[in-house]
Amino acid sequence: MSAAGAHDSGERAHAIAVAAERRWTIVVGAIFVLLVGTMIVTGLQWASMPPSRVEAIDSRTLHVAGEFVETNLGTAVAADGKVTVRLVAQQYSFVPQCIVVPAEMPVTFRGTSSDAIHGFIVGTTNANTMLIPGFVATFTTTFRKTGEMLMPCHEYCGTGHEAMWARVQVLPPAEFLRRARERERLDCVGG
Ligand code: CUA
Repeated sequence: MSAAGAHDSGERAHAIAVAAERRWTIVVGAIFVLLVGTMIVTGLQWASMPPSRVEAIDSRTLHVAGEFVETNLGTAVAADGKVTVRLVAQQYSFVPQCIVVPAEMPVTFRGTSSDAIHGFIVGTTNANTMLIPGFVATFTTTFRKTGEMLMPCHEYCGTGHEAMWARVQVLPPAEFLRRARERERLDCVGG
């Protein structure tokens, strides 16, 4: 090959490389614009809509009236069979201290805090939420295994944080429903 031919093929290779780089620049630029555009659009859309499932509550009157008075806390089975656990977190305990739930049935938790930000997780399950004063935290979960689990507070809430925990007893569905027929609010005491 002559010196001129080598020079020509070198220029051709260079032109191909430049074209390939330009294509990739366009593709990467398009991906970048798409991602940033998605962030802007969803951010604006979320900011313009009320967030889902936000329930506000006056934490100063929790103990006086409404859903979270002490007699209404614990596990209740509604007429339609729905199981709801209501609880209040306070420095440094949960009310109630022990919660009874059925296995293999959907259980809805409704909780709030009367003072600081608390939270809880039930054993190694996915039952996990924060409890923020002024808001009702709610989620529905199904426990697969019977037995007793610890339910620690997992948001640092003050000097007593590490001693703040409750227990959760998961009963076989038949035993749970038998107990639920006997009393309106279930607790860990009594059978
Ligand atoms: Cu309550 Cu940490």
